[in-house]
Amino acid sequence: MIKRLSHVAIAVPSIDQAAKFYEQNLGLRIARREDIPARGVRVAFIPVGDACIELIEPNSPSSPVAGFLEKRGPGLHHICFETEDCQAELSRLRQSGIRLINDVPTQGAHGAKVGFIHPSAASGVLIELTQPAQQ
Ligand code: CO
Repeated sequence: MIKRLSHVAIAVPSIDQAAKFYEQNLGLRIARREDIPARGVRVAFIPVGDACIELIEPNSPSSPVAGFLEKRGPGLHHICFETEDCQAELSRLRQSGIRLINDVPTQGAHGAKVGFIHPSAASGVLIELTQPAQQ
């Protein structure tokens, strides 16, 4: 079951540059930052009500997000829905013939389990499913 929209992720060359718009023009604030070397990115979360804007910056020229920026420029990278059971959702979608990026959840930020649905299944938008770690 999908519980809520968790975040909308935007690929940017520089979190600090991009955050200025959200801070100075929309009155929003970065609540936390995180390095995720395994994914080749740094991220920053800007809370908006029950969801977040996630700014994603490549941490090296070989980062997959660097490739994304080179090809498409800054912009929408993915949207993320929170689910109670990431593995169950991925299995259910797989059985429905939905094209997935990964069949088995991988480790996301803060011990969350995450999986991705291929953009071709969802009108060109990469969709992440996240199951937060038990508190
Ligand atoms: Co995300």
